[in-house]
Amino acid sequence: MSAEYQVHGDVAVITMKNPPVNGLGLAVRQGIAEGLEKANRDPAVLAIVITGAGRAFSGGADIREFGTPKSIQEPNLLSLILALENSLKPVVAAIHSVAMGGGLELALGCHYRIAAPGCKVAMPEVKLGLIPGAGGTQRLPRVIGVEAALNMIVSGEPVASELLASLPGQKLFDRLAASNESLMDEAIQMARDKAAIRPLPLVRQLPAKHPQGDAYFQFVRNMVGGMSKNFPAPLKCIDAVETATKKKFDEGMAFERETFLNLMLTPECRALRHVFMAERAASKIADVPEDTAKRSIQSVAVIGAGTMGGGISMNFLNAGIPVTILEMQQEALDRGLATIRKNYEAQVSKGKLKQDKYEQRMSLLKPTLNYSDIGQADLVIEAVFEEMGVKEKVFEQLDQVMKPGAILATNTSTLDVNQIASFTQRPQDVVGLHFFSPANVMKLLEVVRGEKTAKDVLATVMSLAKTIKKTAVVSGVCDGFIGNRMIEQYSRQAGFLLEEGCSPSQVDKAIEKFGFAMGPFRMSDLAGNDIGWAIRKRRYLEKPSMRYSKTADLLCELGRFGQKTGAGWYDYKPGKRDAITSPLVEAMIEKHRQAQGITPRKISDEEIVQRLVFSLVNEAARILEEGIAAKASDIDMVYLTGYGFPLWRGGPMQYADTVGLFNVVQAMKRFSQNPMDDANFWQPAPMLTKLAAEGRTFN
Ligand code: NAI
Repeated sequence: MSAEYQVHGDVAVITMKNPPVNGLGLAVRQGIAEGLEKANRDPAVLAIVITGAGRAFSGGADIREFGTPKSIQEPNLLSLILALENSLKPVVAAIHSVAMGGGLELALGCHYRIAAPGCKVAMPEVKLGLIPGAGGTQRLPRVIGVEAALNMIVSGEPVASELLASLPGQKLFDRLAASNESLMDEAIQMARDKAAIRPLPLVRQLPAKHPQGDAYFQFVRNMVGGMSKNFPAPLKCIDAVETATKKKFDEGMAFERETFLNLMLTPECRALRHVFMAERAASKIADVPEDTAKRSIQSVAVIGAGTMGGGISMNFLNAGIPVTILEMQQEALDRGLATIRKNYEAQVSKGKLKQDKYEQRMSLLKPTLNYSDIGQADLVIEAVFEEMGVKEKVFEQLDQVMKPGAILATNTSTLDVNQIASFTQRPQDVVGLHFFSPANVMKLLEVVRGEKTAKDVLATVMSLAKTIKKTAVVSGVCDGFIGNRMIEQYSRQAGFLLEEGCSPSQVDKAIEKFGFAMGPFRMSDLAGNDIGWAIRKRRYLEKPSMRYSKTADLLCELGRFGQKTGAGWYDYKPGKRDAITSPLVEAMIEKHRQAQGITPRKISDEEIVQRLVFSLVNEAARILEEGIAAKASDIDMVYLTGYGFPLWRGGPMQYADTVGLFNVVQAMKRFSQNPMDDANFWQPAPMLTKLAAEGRTFN
């Protein structure tokens, strides 16, 4: 039983016990129900207190049970809350730390509530594509008012208990305890004081009203509708809360239930739940136990103060970790520092960063030209030019100066991390930390595990990633790691689409309509077309049989490197980022088609999207097969946090699962019949063929 039952004089205390956050799994629900029954049967007990052990009152439903029979097995949350309401003896919820979702709904079913200082209270269901499903939409407006409740339910954001307690007329908390320590004594005393009072107060009997009624709901619908385009749940939150103001309580409950169950079946909800689990799963590495001792990281050194080095440094400064940044020349160092300063100053002027915080962060940054200044750092991250020879010299130096046990990381985006490790006498301490640009903004961090990378190094950097608020995903060593290796196939396919008849803007618009933040051509203009050009020169020299469209090379030969040169796939006005269709580029593509003897055809948006997304999926299946990624959900996290894949589709693998792998393979077979496309390109990865044949999914 995951709830403990104790009697303190004439008050029974039921304590939920399901670490880490007392998720309301079946065993917890059974434990509460039994405790409640016992307390009601025992003539010596006059009142009941319910609370949670450890770090939370309750974090809500146990998401591991979602979609399983356990989640609806009796007592389910709804019937448990009903049992609390129907208790003949008063029940006091003693809330501390965290009360979220089902945990808050449970408290709302109690007769009285007392909260310790500093509680975080939330209805986060909307973040999983749902609405609260155990009375939250009906009871919360009755205790804190319609507007405050709707704000919480639509945003899913936590609110401090003190703030809620200060709302005029609020009935959420009957009392605030003086301290965390005194909470239980006060709750027990409160239960005792209320023991004889009848009738027992029920939240369901309170009114839910808004003075502006229809006008108010119309207003929030307009506002929320605009912000939540691809997510059905936020508008449903409004429907449910509006129902609370217009219908009887039980009718409102029935509406909430039906809406909740319908949302549960939507692809958006499935995607969001998948992402929730995927994010947690990404931080776990199968052969690195969670209790692996970590190395202490109190200081960091960064080699190279260019685009990446500066951004990487900012992550640590933001987290209060001192950084020493090293360059070869004073000029480069000054330039790097000036960029960091400029970035922070922009944040200050936008009001996103306080002046004193900015100064505090800058004071943690120490510039240097000498390796002797970095030897004592616990972690060093190299971000110098992408050339093996340069990296070799840097790592040989690091091997000389860094203290024993320091972690030696490289930010390389394409080079072989095993080879880089071999430049040192301590390959076990070497790891790839592949940040994405802009490194102070992008959430993704690919952790590249070399053949010899030690487990405690991995455990340390995974935990450090959390400190600097990154989503870390482990990748094995290969050209491009997970993300860029997949994007290569996507870019190749985008090139074939141009040759066959698309314009850059048609391709971009189609995939942006699908939900990508930016299409491949706008993206390339932003990143710099010359970067891809350099990579292609190296890559396709090594793999001459790999067919690709030469249009991107032709573009670079015209010096059109993208936004930085004012011209790329699109034209740009000085100082502006708006992509303007370029007649010159269209003529360049047309000339190329003629030279190749290609008659252009009209290509549908659906075909564009499928060819681009399935090219990602096929390469991803190979990446999985080779063990470069440990699980499909890791690949989804890479694409959601580093490549602007639409969140509501859950990532490329989840999307493929939703389409059905059989259908994905059928589409690929169709594409391989197209004489203009590269037939080899569409050879399905063996894993994809196998899963499709067996009717299985990636995730
Ligand atoms: P960058 O050219 O902006 O900066 C490189 C910096 O390293 C320059 O300031 C240069 O003076 C300095 N440097 C060169 N050799 C050095 C040495 N021996 N010792 C000390 N400093 C030295 O290049 P960027 O874009 O910052 O790239 C750095 C690394 O990050 C490369 O390995 C690149 O592949 C990788 N990367 C780049 C991304 C991007 O979008 N720019 C994204 C992810 C990784």
